[in-house]
Amino acid sequence: MAKDTASIVVDRLSRAQAAAELARLAAEIARHDRLYHLDDAPEISDAEYDRLWRRNAAIEARFDDLMRSDSPSLRVGAAPSDAFAKVTHGRPMLSLGNAFDADEVREFVQRVRRFLGLGETAAVDIVGEPKIDGLSATARYEDGRFVLGATRGDGQVGEDITVNLRTVRDLPLRIDAADVPAVLEVRGEVYMTRPDFATLNAERAAAGESLFANPRNAGAGSLRQLDSRITARRRLHFFAYAWGEVSAPFDGTHWRVLERFKRWGFRVNPLARRCAGADAALALYDEIAAGRSALPYDIDGVVYKVDRLDWQDRLGTVSRAPRWAIAHKFPAEKAQTKLLAIEIQVGRTGALTPVARLEPVTVGGVVVSNATLHNEDEIARKDVRPGDTVIVQRAGDVIPQVVGVVMAKRPKGAMAYVFPDVCPECQSHAVREDGEAARRCTGGLICPAQAVERLRHFVSRDAFDIEGLGEKQIAAFWRDGLVKEPADVFTLAKRDAGFDPPIAEREGWGETSAANLFKAIEDRRRIELDRFIYALGIRHVGETTARLLAKTYESAATVVARLREALDRDGAAYQELIDVDGIGPKVADTIVDFFDEPHNVTVVDELIEQLDIEDYVAPTGDSPLAGKTVVLTGTLEAMTRAEAKARAEALGAKVAGSVSGKTDFVVVGADAGSKATKAHELGVATLDEAAWLALIEGA
Ligand code: IVH
Repeated sequence: MAKDTASIVVDRLSRAQAAAELARLAAEIARHDRLYHLDDAPEISDAEYDRLWRRNAAIEARFDDLMRSDSPSLRVGAAPSDAFAKVTHGRPMLSLGNAFDADEVREFVQRVRRFLGLGETAAVDIVGEPKIDGLSATARYEDGRFVLGATRGDGQVGEDITVNLRTVRDLPLRIDAADVPAVLEVRGEVYMTRPDFATLNAERAAAGESLFANPRNAGAGSLRQLDSRITARRRLHFFAYAWGEVSAPFDGTHWRVLERFKRWGFRVNPLARRCAGADAALALYDEIAAGRSALPYDIDGVVYKVDRLDWQDRLGTVSRAPRWAIAHKFPAEKAQTKLLAIEIQVGRTGALTPVARLEPVTVGGVVVSNATLHNEDEIARKDVRPGDTVIVQRAGDVIPQVVGVVMAKRPKGAMAYVFPDVCPECQSHAVREDGEAARRCTGGLICPAQAVERLRHFVSRDAFDIEGLGEKQIAAFWRDGLVKEPADVFTLAKRDAGFDPPIAEREGWGETSAANLFKAIEDRRRIELDRFIYALGIRHVGETTARLLAKTYESAATVVARLREALDRDGAAYQELIDVDGIGPKVADTIVDFFDEPHNVTVVDELIEQLDIEDYVAPTGDSPLAGKTVVLTGTLEAMTRAEAKARAEALGAKVAGSVSGKTDFVVVGADAGSKATKAHELGVATLDEAAWLALIEGA
């Protein structure tokens, strides 16, 4: 029948024939796409290919209800939408830890061996892949059909870019293979080639439009287009290298999954290779680095992944990055330029950071006009002086830094830099505590820089993530008295009518953007406990520590109550805090100091009033370990201490460093010492290794 329908002119097709013909054309065009994009071996001319497309479009125009979910027409984009919907990833989209030299790579492989309890010289196969400098995205297939595309976002929640991702020809709209799982999320990198980037910028220059700084930004700008027809014209590409939810979990090795991806019609980077151990992986790195400039796309390093998937599972993740993978970055690119001035910025914790104002210079494809000088000692050590010619370096997404001075070019009379001992923002004394690299402003609450920085942190992406409330807006609201404290953000809408002028009439705002802001704020009134803690901006409390605190105290009210009690260094509350594995005395002290400051307590109380803070719930609620406090002691046969701890935490337990009345049980390995004795004294339950394994096995 297919042969017959192919020769009938569109106007003569019956409904049934049209449906058959659309199926044939979808498959045929997909086959030619594959031949062209994946195999680099086209079978037909461009004109013939266009004819297939036109015929498909003409049939769809006649029978618009017959349009297929894998229709090639979806490749050209659709009418613009107002905004991207949010997509919660079924499995988080992870980021990667970095290694900057060969030793760090060897150390990574050693860490893997230690964690898994393998011998020092055990064979560990590693897959090395170029690290594509693009944007990660995920493509979801159900029963082999492309149904959803999303950006990474913050790793937990991304944006729905389905229509945009459909325009990327490297992604199949349909997978025709018997072994494709019913649900399959393929993850990888969307990127723009260097030649396409050059052409695009040339066109933009001719049209008097602003230029993209590099292919990565151009790719990002093209993918996140509300008008996906523009995305389609930008010809983006995709390399598959990871996966999310899969209904029938993969087994075997990473390498085998990559082979399956290829068979299913995805592009996998041809430079990827399986390597036996660190040295072979490092040899691959050298090869890829040597060929880097000849590639038609940007890469910024090599990613190493432990090949065995059962080992990947056991290794798990820490702070949103897998223990089984690492990015080996290419060395930073360097350039020389003139240091115009040294300025001091004041951060949210009052730290004075020297920033170099530079004569703009291109480093690694990006124009740099500011760079960090780190701190007072670094300036002295490098003897950096205004007027000097300095060497600036930039590595990937890291802030550019001044690495040294070209002494031969120092102008006569250049004066050594004297670091200020007063805060440039509020004129309070700036002092250095023992053992601290940073000089800090003592102005605390009266220092405008600290206040603004704290608010900025509060609404930033990993904290409250309030869209439309960026650095500029916060600074302006603070200056004009609209927002002085974090809680003020949540009363903005209510107070808006009393502002002169109301937000919608302020410069840069309008009815729509103001309404959007109020909505974005409303949407965030409900927040997870760990994000809330992180948002407070307590010194030394990053996302990981915030999560530990959320896990330990479980509700906002308990956080405040227990941490205020912890002021008594001899009391149980302080002991509970320093017992949290991962919180040392230094961090504990800054946390306690924060809650010792009455103003902070007021800020937190006012916030709690405004918010609906979700209690912490252990990730696997039905596991026998959820919410339990566990202490590990002695040596286990089947797994290392590190793995046992990671397993317990993944199952929702808290792992504490010492035994107390709060301990639910102690896992006792061989040669256990005082902790086992203490458990017996306190009547805390103990588990031997077999019981421990049975417990986690059943979980
Ligand atoms: S694997 C589960 N492989 O690098 C591990 N990432 O710095 C997830 N990237 O967010 C990442 N090429 O956007 C992986 N071959 C590759 C990659 C790669 C580029 C990006 C990716 C990731 C970022 C982390």
